[in-house]
Amino acid sequence: MKFEKEILCIGAGYVGGPTMAMIAYKCPQYRVNVVDILPEKIDQWNSENLPIYEPGLYGIVQEARGRNLFFSKDIGAGIKAADIIFVSVNTPTKTYGAGAGMAADLQYWEKTARQILECAESSKIIVEKSTLPVKTAQAMERILNSGKDGVQFEVLSNPEFLAEGTAIADLENPDRVLIGLQQTGSGLKARDELVEIYANWVAADRIVTSNIWSSELSKLVANAFLAQRISSINAISSLCEKTEADVGEVARAVGMDTRIGPKFLNASVGFGGSCFKKDILNLVYLCSHYGLEQEGDYWEGVVRINEHQKERFVLNMLTAMFNTLAGKKICLFGFAFKANTGDTRETPALTVAGRLVAENAQVVISDPKALDNARKDTNELNGDIKFIEDPYEAASGCHAIAIMTEWEVYRTLDYQEIFNSMQQPAFIFDGRNIVDHEKLYEIGFNVFPIGKPKLVHF
Ligand code: UDX
Ligand code: UDX
Repeated sequence: MKFEKEILCIGAGYVGGPTMAMIAYKCPQYRVNVVDILPEKIDQWNSENLPIYEPGLYGIVQEARGRNLFFSKDIGAGIKAADIIFVSVNTPTKTYGAGAGMAADLQYWEKTARQILECAESSKIIVEKSTLPVKTAQAMERILNSGKDGVQFEVLSNPEFLAEGTAIADLENPDRVLIGLQQTGSGLKARDELVEIYANWVAADRIVTSNIWSSELSKLVANAFLAQRISSINAISSLCEKTEADVGEVARAVGMDTRIGPKFLNASVGFGGSCFKKDILNLVYLCSHYGLEQEGDYWEGVVRINEHQKERFVLNMLTAMFNTLAGKKICLFGFAFKANTGDTRETPALTVAGRLVAENAQVVISDPKALDNARKDTNELNGDIKFIEDPYEAASGCHAIAIMTEWEVYRTLDYQEIFNSMQQPAFIFDGRNIVDHEKLYEIGFNVFPIGKPKLVHF
């Protein structure tokens, strides 16, 4: 069968995999091919055990895989066959040289661009899916168009706004699809091709276009604004703990102002995930690159408050538990950076685990989906760490529980049974404010929420 479009995606990660699965699922008339430098990842995508856990993902992969969705290892052949190439390789924070710890490491992006140039035999549209610093598209276009005569590349920016844990719903019903382009004849033509893909299931008024730099910047800014809301409410949570105000009540009252809105005002042990910190640091680096030190400093404050919030959480534990955690057994409920994902990148749970190990505590980690990643992440801590999926077994014999991830399962456990199995006095530190604090206090726990009065029996 001849397909209407040949689409390739380079990078089969958290962004590339679900996004391409959705395009293939919604558009059987296109052939969607996904490649990755890691052959074992492609094997996983072709198996029953997908490399990532995302609610609803397996269903749509199953529907489209083998029909018009393919995961393959031959990147060169994929490039040759494609009309449109999405690039969603990772762009981690640079760990070396100029901008180390701040700027995005573009080596994978550039390598990918050079490979496209080397393999392509016909003109193509290149779509930036990865979050990139402003003006990357221009650099890419220069590399790409430095090559063969008669082969033209048009680079579009199309940042992905999906959140993990809700990726399928976000892809199916996005707030907006943003396409950045250069206002040239070929730029407009490429835009139309990309709009045509999304228009298969996204309403026309949700597909917005902008100039390419605005598009690249918008992604960084959206993440910075979201993270800023969390740091703002977290900064208020410490004040609430000092003043006996309740951060939940404050967030509700503040969020009812329609100008502010109720979302992303949940105080927590801190935000995690692969994007927020990386993108803000990237923004800070951009500001500083353009000599805007004050502006950079302002945004860096969002990350500083987040680091402080994690540290504050551990110090609260230490103070509450009589200033020593040495030899005490502490159970972490959750290790993923948020619920409904197995992803642990930048998870606050790792920081907390590291600090507990530094205090010579024994740590038991429980999580429904993230234990494999937790094992890898904590390897370097060289601490006394156990991994137990069953929360009852994990908490048994512990001095304290610290809730790290807002998994639904932790709301509904039999806390009386858990309390009975723990060392006394038993403590619970709710880093997500998800359990019924009064009820747990009545059971006998000493309860330490975020941004609310503690409930203690002594
Ligand atoms: C992440 C961030 O979430 C996103 O904001 C950023 O812009 C890109 O990196 P994600 O899909 O979550 O996106 O990353 P990851 O799951 O690490 O996937 C990237 C994939 O690209 C990996 O599977 C990696 O093997 C692959 N890759 C990387 C290539 O195929 N070629 C390369 O040269 C480098
Ligand atoms: C984020 C953006 O939401 C998404 O648009 C972008 O494409 C990628 O980055 P993600 O990191 O997957 O998505 O998850 P998100 O739901 O934004 O949560 C990020 C972190 O903030 C998590 O650790 C979460 O637990 C925390 N969070 C979120 C809070 O602490 N409080 C809140 O009110 C909301």
